[in-house]
Amino acid sequence: MRLLTGIQSSGDLHIGNYFGSIKPMIEAQNDNEIFAFIANYHAMTSVTDGKRLAALTMQAATDFLALGMDPNKSTFWVQSDVKEVLELYWVLSSFTPMGLLERGHSYKDKTAKGIASNHNLFSYPVLMAADILMFNSEIIPVGKDQIQHVEMARDIATKFNNLHGDIFVIPEHRVETEVATVPGVDGQKMSKSYGNTINIFGEEKKQLKTIKKIVTESAPLEAPKEFENCNVYNIAKLFLQGEDLKELEARYQRGGEGHGHFKLYLAEVIWEYFRPYREKHEHYSTNPDEVRDILKFGADKARTVAQPLMEKIRTATGITY
Ligand code: ADP
Ligand code: TRP
Repeated sequence: MRLLTGIQSSGDLHIGNYFGSIKPMIEAQNDNEIFAFIANYHAMTSVTDGKRLAALTMQAATDFLALGMDPNKSTFWVQSDVKEVLELYWVLSSFTPMGLLERGHSYKDKTAKGIASNHNLFSYPVLMAADILMFNSEIIPVGKDQIQHVEMARDIATKFNNLHGDIFVIPEHRVETEVATVPGVDGQKMSKSYGNTINIFGEEKKQLKTIKKIVTESAPLEAPKEFENCNVYNIAKLFLQGEDLKELEARYQRGGEGHGHFKLYLAEVIWEYFRPYREKHEHYSTNPDEVRDILKFGADKARTVAQPLMEKIRTATGITY
């Protein structure tokens, strides 16, 4: 199966992104054809500082490579390095009724929150449809909030195919159901936009400080504690298995320890979990040119799919004359 996914370079990657999206994708590399890219054009809808966007794009690429994205097995690139996608975006605009975009939840939610309603925010789903359709993608693994965008890509592709023949593969979304939503330090969904994240590659002291902020119920030290609804436990269980998890549950039930102890333990567990990846992270962080070479190699690979398809589209639409 060909799976395609994009992740915006609009902030630090956090453990919610890791368990909800990055880890499943990296694990899928062995049995699937993975197309994964950093959506830096999409990130322009929220990041307006150029230096910051460039840094976030490199940072996301570094994080992905450190976490096991294999550029030889998979196709991994930065969206803006394959310009065909922008040409397709324009072509697809002719197959996108205004009403379809006006019904976009994401656009409505963001403008309701007071985010400036620039055209890029409005036409965001058309660029996303171009990302998906440009690479003959079959499955698009997404979070619930992105299902509508994949539906829009299907609608647009169907309209195009009806007029010009079967040029596009009609994609399907897939929602990772086993991974529950990872809670943030305040207990809400962990998200960059809520400022409640635990980052994957933060500094140790900062990580501990963040983890200490996790909201917990107040209970006397000696009292046995409930673990099911405890945010510390719910984050810890993503990292622990078997005996280790049982032991943590027993510590809650035994009493004699406060949430502060569990937080220290969680900080240690997270730090150890990412230890093997940190070395690679350090390597790529200090060798940005190597990262750029890998991204360029990925863009070239992606282009071998995009270029012939774009040629077909130009012919079908009469752009080639
Ligand atoms: P954010 O909410 O931090 O902006 P994104 O919307 O960029 O995150 O999400 C990128 C990917 O990470 C998506 O596939 C999304 O489903 C996944 N993801 C984000 N936050 C979480 C979370 N708290 N729990 C599980 N998956 C998440
Ligand atoms: N809109 C997606 C998000 O915010 C990112 C994205 C851009 C994407 N293009 C894509 C995801 C194509 C899947 C396929 O999470």
